[in-house]
Amino acid sequence: MVRPLTPLYGQGGWRTHIGRVVGNSVMETRFRMNYGEPLQVGEMLVVENETSPDRYLVRVMDIEHGADSEQKGWMETFAGQMLRGDARNQEYDMEGIRPQLYCAGVCIPLGCVGSAFRKTKTIPSHFSRVRRTDITDYEFLKDSLGDIQVGNLRSGDQVLDFPVGITGQAIPHHIGIFATTGMGKSNLMKNLALSCMDLRKYGFLILDPHGEYYDGGEAKKRGLKHAGRTDALVVFSSRKLDGPHNSLHLAASEIEIADLESLYEMTGAQKECMQSAQYAYGDNWLVELNDRSVGTIVKDLKDQYKDGTVSVIKRRLENLFRLDLITRDRKLSVTNNIIDALHDGKVVLADTSNMFEAEELLVSTVLCRAIFERNKQLYGEKERFDKLPPVLIAMEEAQRVLTEAKGSIFAQIAREGRKFKTGLCAVSQQPKLIDVEIISQFNTLFVLGLADRRDREILKNSAKQDISQLENEIQMLMPGEALIASPFTPFAVPVKIHLYEEYLAKELAKTPSRAVSRASPDRGFY
Ligand SMILES: Nc1ncnc2c1ncn2[C@@H]1O[C@H](COP(=O)(O)OP(=O)(O)OP(=O)(O)O)[C@@H](O)[C@H]1O
Ligand SMILES: [Mg+2]
Repeated sequence: MVRPLTPLYGQGGWRTHIGRVVGNSVMETRFRMNYGEPLQVGEMLVVENETSPDRYLVRVMDIEHGADSEQKGWMETFAGQMLRGDARNQEYDMEGIRPQLYCAGVCIPLGCVGSAFRKTKTIPSHFSRVRRTDITDYEFLKDSLGDIQVGNLRSGDQVLDFPVGITGQAIPHHIGIFATTGMGKSNLMKNLALSCMDLRKYGFLILDPHGEYYDGGEAKKRGLKHAGRTDALVVFSSRKLDGPHNSLHLAASEIEIADLESLYEMTGAQKECMQSAQYAYGDNWLVELNDRSVGTIVKDLKDQYKDGTVSVIKRRLENLFRLDLITRDRKLSVTNNIIDALHDGKVVLADTSNMFEAEELLVSTVLCRAIFERNKQLYGEKERFDKLPPVLIAMEEAQRVLTEAKGSIFAQIAREGRKFKTGLCAVSQQPKLIDVEIISQFNTLFVLGLADRRDREILKNSAKQDISQLENEIQMLMPGEALIASPFTPFAVPVKIHLYEEYLAKELAKTPSRAVSRASPDRGFY
């Protein structure tokens, strides 16, 4: 829920000033607050310099107790007295000591706001006032936040009426969405998709192995079909969906032996046998391997391979044909339709949820390669290429395919995609499993709650903003709370992602025509 930030708290009435600076270095600001003043890790505050019009924007990193007393260990001594009182059931009179007690906020500087925003290179003067922020303090951020909106600015857990998004420029520089399970990755993806559907300026391919994006996957959840943007959404699926969609087919000729080798464990003889089959049968080798009997294949391949070798290959390929995924006819392949829709600025959903992992990864590999190769090819046609929208390919559980730097198309896109307007959006619970060199290519990171220290470490090292001091904050993030670290913003921006279901309901209430448009089954349907 969005609520105003100031003035909110404070003993003795509405008050925005909450403290005075007591210590400073350029990299850390400490301030004292009165007893009982609420403060949260992650909250952003303004330090008003007493000697110039500059304001310092700081973020609370830690909070400490303090007490005015010359006696060493006074708080411990006092707590001991209280405990003894507790044992005798005696109430302790806090009023007497309250003026001695305080809390200290420990903050990192985000920057200095004067005529423009700049990195902090100076310190505010002694005892400068510290106050809570209001949205006018963030005006300077507007230019660096982009049009793909996903939520609202957050200070601690307070949500401000200040929309936050990422710029389309960030797409080819790759995006990472990292969080422990249940922290809001899929919800964020739905928000990204909704924004892209509204904008129609970016192509966004979502590979959906869990079947959660079309209709939300669960009774209480909402999916992309509920957005009512049938003109901006194209759906491909190998299972039946309740709504307009196209079935998912790939041409046998689009599949390379290397793709199969990376998915199924193969012996040297099996690999050679596939190469011979490709040589003997040409483009349609996969279909021929499936259609012909073991005996015929052995004969066609001039008795070089044993029946057993051919049988194992056929068994491995069975699942591809179980789903009618592979077609002989290149024209029936969906890759061209998918690329056209992406180049038309649409969101494309490829639901692979009824496939086994190997087949699902094969579909992802073939589609990613086709998109990347097409963009690469168009790069030579400057006029056309200039008009192409950036294309973002989202991959759930991306650690599966971004583990080794060489060989995979995903790693290649991570390294070279920028030049060809092709970006990856890696969604993962375990960024630590992603190859270090590859993860460093992900320039924009959505960091949601991450419980594992090693996951946080790897992000700290690869983020293009210094998030090393935000360790406490990242551990404390609640579902839907995120930090966006990106070279396009002046600091890691704290955001509360919209809860998709809630946000969509509000949007549809504002524009009922959208809700009606989803009743029309054929629009946007290939
Ligand atoms: N922005 C948000 N605001 C409020 N609640 C949220 C938000 N994002 C997620 N949640 C809550 O957390 C739940 C889990 O979210 P989500 O499915 O997006 O997590 P996930 O990170 O994708 O989990 P998994 O790793 O299991 O796929 C949601 O059903 C919702 O209740
Ligand atoms: Mg999820």
